[in-house]
Amino acid sequence: MIPRTFKPLVTAVLFGWAALAQAADVKLGVAEALSGGAAQYGQSIRAGFQLAADEINAAGGINGSKLVLVVEDEQGKKEEAINAFKKLIFQDKVLMIFGPTLSNSAQAADPIAQAAKVVVFGTSNTADGITSIGDHIFRNSVTEADVLPVTLSTAAKKLGIKKVAVLYGNDDVFTKSGYDNFKKALDAQKIAVTTTETFAKGDVDFKAQLTKIKASNPDALVLSALIAEGAPIMVQARQLGLNVPVIGGNGMNSVKVFELAKGASDGLWIGSPWSIENQTKENGAFIVAYTQKYKSAPDQFAAQAYDAMYITAQALKKIKLTGDLAKDRAALRNALPDVKWTGATGAFAFRRATDKAGNPAGYDAAQTAIVSVTKNGRYAIEK
Ligand code: ALA
Repeated sequence: MIPRTFKPLVTAVLFGWAALAQAADVKLGVAEALSGGAAQYGQSIRAGFQLAADEINAAGGINGSKLVLVVEDEQGKKEEAINAFKKLIFQDKVLMIFGPTLSNSAQAADPIAQAAKVVVFGTSNTADGITSIGDHIFRNSVTEADVLPVTLSTAAKKLGIKKVAVLYGNDDVFTKSGYDNFKKALDAQKIAVTTTETFAKGDVDFKAQLTKIKASNPDALVLSALIAEGAPIMVQARQLGLNVPVIGGNGMNSVKVFELAKGASDGLWIGSPWSIENQTKENGAFIVAYTQKYKSAPDQFAAQAYDAMYITAQALKKIKLTGDLAKDRAALRNALPDVKWTGATGAFAFRRATDKAGNPAGYDAAQTAIVSVTKNGRYAIEK
């Protein structure tokens, strides 16, 4: 019989020293909207992260360590995002956080990560000002400021648009930022505005605004909305006979529009670095793997999450994790800005953002937009 004290040693010999010496898991926080209106994005984002993490782990992980995702549902709400960030940082002691889904929540929760010196990596936040919060804030989601002028000029040129009506949500950081950037681009491109109307989060009846818009006889409707309100707006516009093209921001770039605005989803123009039609080697591999795993087609939110996980993995491979959390968090922060990666969304690099005083702050995506228009249940590229 083996004496009790020798048992661990014998076990180690039997199962190999390698098993005992195995590197610790790398714990990454994921705080996304998995329920509520923004879950249309959050569920895709989560799926993109999981697919990439599974692939990275299957290929040997990070220098032998496995990526483990600690997932929290922040419900698309500011308070819940703050709670999720606190739990992930202080209780779960994750190395960094991906998320949250909405810019509205990022503006509230990101300062918590910044103060704790923890990297937060947004994959869907596209409003102005998010990366101004501080030097631990990263995103690979291309901003409305970068995308909307391209979407607008492409649609205007193709369709001969001279005057538009504008409709936007005035109580959300992203929809308000989308409006500001549309306004700037409309002025710069000398496109007239027939009327400007607003709505609020949770509204379900947009007929009063759409009736005014129809009476103003625009060539197109410029819409800064999240999908929860944007899809019923598309449906109600068509019901009222407002059949003009709709030019949207990032919030409207979700395949969910085909379900939620069934029969009324044609003629929606959006811009994004990612398209299912973009036939690169990396994007093709992503689309095949995603479709096999989830039995549904990916969207831009899944693609950006997938790429963000690979971008982070490149930084992690360059540093030596010590087990000292503060040191490891700082090492990741310092390795991330230099990562270059070609993924599903194409070639990617970070671009330094500034704070309100013009000092260096966080990091935005340096990528260009592809413009697409919806027709018969799919987004087709327009050049
Ligand atoms: N792009 C949207 C936002 O930033 C989802 O809130």
